[in-house]
Amino acid sequence: MRALTWQGKRSVSVEEVPDPIIQEPTDAIIKITSTAICGSDLHLYEVLGPYMSKGDILGHEPMGIVQEVGSAVTNLRVGDRVVIPFNIACGTCLMCSLNLQSQCETTQVREKGLGARIFGYSELYGSVPGGQAEYLRVPFADYGPFKVGQDLPDVRYLYLSDIVPTAWQGVQYADVPDGGTLAVFGLGPVGQFAARAGVHLGYRVIGIEPVPERRAMAERHGVETLDYSDTIGDELREMTEGRGPNSVVEAVGMEA
Ligand SMILES: NC(=O)c1ccc[n+]([C@@H]2O[C@H](COP(=O)([O-])OP(=O)(O)OC[C@H]3O[C@@H](n4cnc5c(N)ncnc54)[C@H](O)[C@@H]3O)[C@@H](O)[C@H]2O)c1
Ligand SMILES: [Zn+2]
Ligand SMILES: [Zn+2]
Repeated sequence: MRALTWQGKRSVSVEEVPDPIIQEPTDAIIKITSTAICGSDLHLYEVLGPYMSKGDILGHEPMGIVQEVGSAVTNLRVGDRVVIPFNIACGTCLMCSLNLQSQCETTQVREKGLGARIFGYSELYGSVPGGQAEYLRVPFADYGPFKVGQDLPDVRYLYLSDIVPTAWQGVQYADVPDGGTLAVFGLGPVGQFAARAGVHLGYRVIGIEPVPERRAMAERHGVETLDYSDTIGDELREMTEGRGPNSVVEAVGMEA
């Protein structure tokens, strides 16, 4: 199959690689129909390079059609259309039972002191081949992948793999009071969805972002916006009776 591979700092390329195969009875093989690029992939391209190896397959935001299932998989059938969450979790350990799947005790990368494995995300997260490829091996396939309808195009579902739930969870953790004001720093994909989640939940949302096109996109969805500047704190207080927003989501990212 063909797959997008890491070749070195700031260097990726599509290469011919072996097809994935079922290795455990709980695996499934997915034929990928769509896959997104995450803001997090930029870290691999650059600062997390030391944790990558030449040839690693990237990608953790895929969806597709079930191609093959292991003998222990009962929830999925060949032909099902599925979205694959980026975390790999077992579904049966203590952390999974607490809905803390990113800390799954079965797939956790203990030698690095980190959480659950993630598709296509360096040795820090288990060096698992990723989904920017024609086929993907999915461990614990009964638990992670979720089935979606057949009617709507991929783009209506794909963002459920990471960016929508990430943004939604960020807004939940921000714990905005009813009718309160939420500031969202950064209006990339995560910030756009966080801001729209805030509007959807009835909050006043102020997005802070230096790129005008990204501010304009948020404004089309009911978000007030500001350019980033050194006086951003004062500007936010001015807009909120001198108090500042009730809650803040930081969606700029690691390098910043
Ligand atoms: N934990 C998760 O599950 C998860 C999932 C997806 C993304 N992420 C992380 O979230 C972050 C954002 O992801 P993204 O895909 O939206 O990335 P992105 O790079 O597209 O968006 C970041 C935005 O921040 C803006 N920005 C830069 N400096 C700023 C400043 N000083 N003030 C305000 N805005 C500023 C940039 O112009 C850009 O639009 C990344 O670090 C990514 O790794 C985490
Ligand atoms: Zn991601
Ligand atoms: Zn688990």
